[in-house]
Amino acid sequence: MNRDMSRYSNILNRRRDFPSLRRTHNGQPIAYLDGPAGTQMPQQVIDAISGYYAASNANTHGLFVTSQETDALIDETRDIVAQFLGASSGETISFGANMTTLTFSLSKAIARTLREGDEILITQLDHEANRGPWLTLRERGIAINEVALKPNGMLDYDDLRAKIGKRTRLLAIGLASNLLGTVNNVALARQLTSKVGALLLCDAVHYAPHFPIDVKALDPDFLLCSAYKFYGPHVGILYSKEGLLDRLETDRLRTQDHEAPYKIETGTLNHAAIAGVNASIEYIASFGTGTNIRDKIVNAMQLIAEYEHAVGCRLYDGLRAIPGVTMYGMNFDRPDRAPTISFTLEGKNAGEVSGILGNKGICTWNGHFYAIRAIEVLGLLDRGGVTRAGISLYNTIEEIERLLAELRLISMS
Ligand SMILES: Cc1ncc(COP(=O)(O)O)c(C=O)c1O
Repeated sequence: MNRDMSRYSNILNRRRDFPSLRRTHNGQPIAYLDGPAGTQMPQQVIDAISGYYAASNANTHGLFVTSQETDALIDETRDIVAQFLGASSGETISFGANMTTLTFSLSKAIARTLREGDEILITQLDHEANRGPWLTLRERGIAINEVALKPNGMLDYDDLRAKIGKRTRLLAIGLASNLLGTVNNVALARQLTSKVGALLLCDAVHYAPHFPIDVKALDPDFLLCSAYKFYGPHVGILYSKEGLLDRLETDRLRTQDHEAPYKIETGTLNHAAIAGVNASIEYIASFGTGTNIRDKIVNAMQLIAEYEHAVGCRLYDGLRAIPGVTMYGMNFDRPDRAPTISFTLEGKNAGEVSGILGNKGICTWNGHFYAIRAIEVLGLLDRGGVTRAGISLYNTIEEIERLLAELRLISMS
C-alpha cells in the first residue's frame, strides 16, 4: 500500500465488501473507473434487495404482515434518505424510476403553474436530464435560456446574473458536473433566485456520491439524486421543500394519494430496490462516526471526499505528465472539485482509448455522458467526446497507476 494512503485503511479494507471487485477480465482484475455512470454494489446492499424478496415481498397498504413490512420499509427509507440529504423529514422524499423520469414529471407539474412569456433558466454544463424536461416546455410558450459554460469548465456567473430576471420562474442547475467534476456555486444560485422569486431545482446526481449534502444550508426548492450512483440500486430520489409538492398539479390517478411525498409517485414502486437504497445509506454511514445517523453520514462523506480527492490528485498529476493528454475542466488543487476527470489523447478517438482500456479490464467511459451540450460548447462533439475516469470509494492508487501505465503505452502507439 502506498504509504501516504495508509491513513485511509478504513476505506481500503472495505473493498472486500464489493463482490464485483473480485472479477477479472482477460486475466486482470477489473478496475471500475466508471462510477459516474453507476457504482458497484456492496454485499450489504445486494443482501437487502434479495432479503426483501425472500421475506417481505408484497404490495403496500394491506392488512397482513408482509404488506405492513413493505409500508414500514418505504417509510423508513424516506427517513434515512432525509438524513442523507439533511432534510427535516421523510415526508419531503419521493421515489421514482430514476432522476430523469422524476424531472419530467416535475417539469409537467410546474408547467401547469406557468404562463406564456415566463422563463426558465438551464445551464450549458448540465446533464440532459436537467435540460431536456425543461426544453420541452418551449412548446407551451415558456422561454428557456441557458447559462453559458466558460472554457475553463466553470459556469459563467456574470451570464447567470444577466439572464435571471423578473420573468424567471425556475433555475435548474447541477451541484456537480458528471463531465468535468465542476462544483457549481449553488449558494449564489439560491441568492439570485430568491431575489427574483424563482424556484431553485438542483441536480445532485453527480454530487451525492462524493460530498455531504445539506438541503437546510443549500435551501433548494427541489433536489434530485439517483441511488445507483452511491452504491445503491436504480431508484430516483426527489426532495421537495415542505408544502411545495402539495401545491403542484402532478399527473396522478384518482386512486392515488394526493399529498406529498406520494403525489408524484405513479404506480407501484420498486420495493426491493428501495430496500437497497436504505442499505446503501446505512453502508455509507458505516464509514463514519457520530452519535446519530446524520452525523455518521456527514462524517463518512467527508472521509470519502478526502480519500477520493487524494486518489483523484494522483490521476490528475499522472495524466498531466503523459504527452498528448489534454484534460478538461478545473485544476485539481481545490477540494470542492468532484473526482471525475475527462481527457483526450492526441491523435486518438475517445472510443479507441476506452476500448483498449476495456480490453485490459479498466472501465472508463467515452463520449458525452449525456452532458452533450457542454461537449458541444467545448468543441469536442465531432471528435467523439472525451474519455472519463471517475473515482469511487473503492478505487485505489494502484488502479490509477495501472490506468496511467496503459495510457502511456497508448500515447506511444
Ligand atoms: C449529473 C447527472 N444528472 C442526471 C443523471 C440522470 O440520472 P438517472 O439515470 O437517474 O435518470 C445522470 C446520470 O448519469 C447524471 O450523471
